[in-house]
Amino acid sequence: MTVCASIPRFIDPEGLRSDPLSFLRAAHAAAGDIVVVTERGPAFSRKHDCAAAVAVFGPAGTRHVLSDADLFGPGVSVGELFSLPPALSRLNAGLFSMKGEEHGTQQQLLRTALDDMCTHGVDQVVAQAWQRFAEDLGLADDVPLLSEMRRLALHVSSLLVFGNTDLELGRLIQSYFELRRTVSAAATVPNLLQRRTLIQTGARLDRLLRARMLAFQADVAKGNAAAHACMMGRLHATARGSATEDQLIAQANTLFMSSSEPVAVSLTWILLILSQQPRLRRALRLELAERSERGDRDRPLLRAVIHEVLRLLPPNAIMVKVTTGPAQLLGHRLPPNCEILLSPFVAHRDSRDFQQADVLDPGRWHGWKPSTYAYFPFGLGARYCVGRQLALSLLVAILSSMLSRYDVVLAADQALDWKINITLMPAQEPIVRFLPAQMQYDVAGGRVHGPVAELMRY
Ligand code: HEM
Repeated sequence: MTVCASIPRFIDPEGLRSDPLSFLRAAHAAAGDIVVVTERGPAFSRKHDCAAAVAVFGPAGTRHVLSDADLFGPGVSVGELFSLPPALSRLNAGLFSMKGEEHGTQQQLLRTALDDMCTHGVDQVVAQAWQRFAEDLGLADDVPLLSEMRRLALHVSSLLVFGNTDLELGRLIQSYFELRRTVSAAATVPNLLQRRTLIQTGARLDRLLRARMLAFQADVAKGNAAAHACMMGRLHATARGSATEDQLIAQANTLFMSSSEPVAVSLTWILLILSQQPRLRRALRLELAERSERGDRDRPLLRAVIHEVLRLLPPNAIMVKVTTGPAQLLGHRLPPNCEILLSPFVAHRDSRDFQQADVLDPGRWHGWKPSTYAYFPFGLGARYCVGRQLALSLLVAILSSMLSRYDVVLAADQALDWKINITLMPAQEPIVRFLPAQMQYDVAGGRVHGPVAELMRY
């Protein structure tokens, strides 16, 4: 089925493939709030029988798409795409892939469990994870920033989700996620070896998660405090029998990845930007020192920096939905199986909502809030991120630990590109050094060049 001719076209397959962010900005500028960007199949979702991809911008269209999660559903899953065995599909049947009533019930359970975690604070978890992470951190060595942030997130999420310091399960979840991501990003069907590795890793993860759930239930029954306090413990307590073992296993897998990968990527962008801003690093350290001394837990400048980096470099820079039936959007008809692209990256750089939209300015957040649907790094509407509060608490706690101890600088001048592989991230590892923090003077480091520098103006 073709897409209605009244929607403007902005078609440039090479531009969309090589630089989707600039392409979408150009499409918005040229064609307005709704625009067809491919007429031969999907841009990102690999959905079979997909007529076209339509990019939607502006508050009205964004609100419409994000508030109707049944009509504008998730993209096609890897399990469905490559007919993977049921155990693997079950693993990924977490909140992201649920629909209707089941989604509503499970979302409410998760919200209650995660809000409960925030209320009880994440500082202790972060302090313990930080200590373990720091044991293997080479002071003043050259270290790959993104890998190190994933290692830190592994410690944090193992404690947060499962309440223990054994990293084996977390490592397996991370490598299974990476395999799925590689397979879903490739232009071709996975070869036999990739398929076998994915199936074996998934099957092993399913077994390990089931065993962990059994051990976990025994710990909870024995009154083990750590098991009670972690995310899965709270979920068990809140669910009280209303979630099946399969649902809990899928949630454990989803929660682990959701609490580690976007947090690791956000930390990477924040530290990379701060590595270019010695004065801002010092101002943050001063805030931390002064407020800690007063026993004040608020960190307004740090929060502003986090919001500002999530504005300029949102990890979910492009969100992909697919119409599950015929739809009406901004006065146009859309066929079923039509890919819909929303871009927080483009929205966050709209000069109608943000002055000097391309420039990093944490000061803009002082006593100011953007309008709803202009700023949505955590999504909005029916599938709004259930972990938003938790993510912000984690970022504040981790960055407070890190910035009060270290000055993170780029080891040398470095040209960096970026890529979108589900998440917007640096295409090469930024190589940094963790130096002892300096209160008295600003420490300069290497400069970022290349396409990443274009995304971070000061
Ligand atoms: C900086 C960190 C994070 C970012 C940028 C982020 C971003 C997002 C976004 C954009 C969505 C909406 C996806 C869509 O509509 O397609 C989402 C959904 C979700 N997030 Fe997060 N997230 C973060 C951290 C977390 C954490 C810490 C958790 C929980 C431990 C979490 C759990 C979830 C879940 C379960 C959903 C699915 C909601 C649903 O389908 O109803 N996220 N997140």
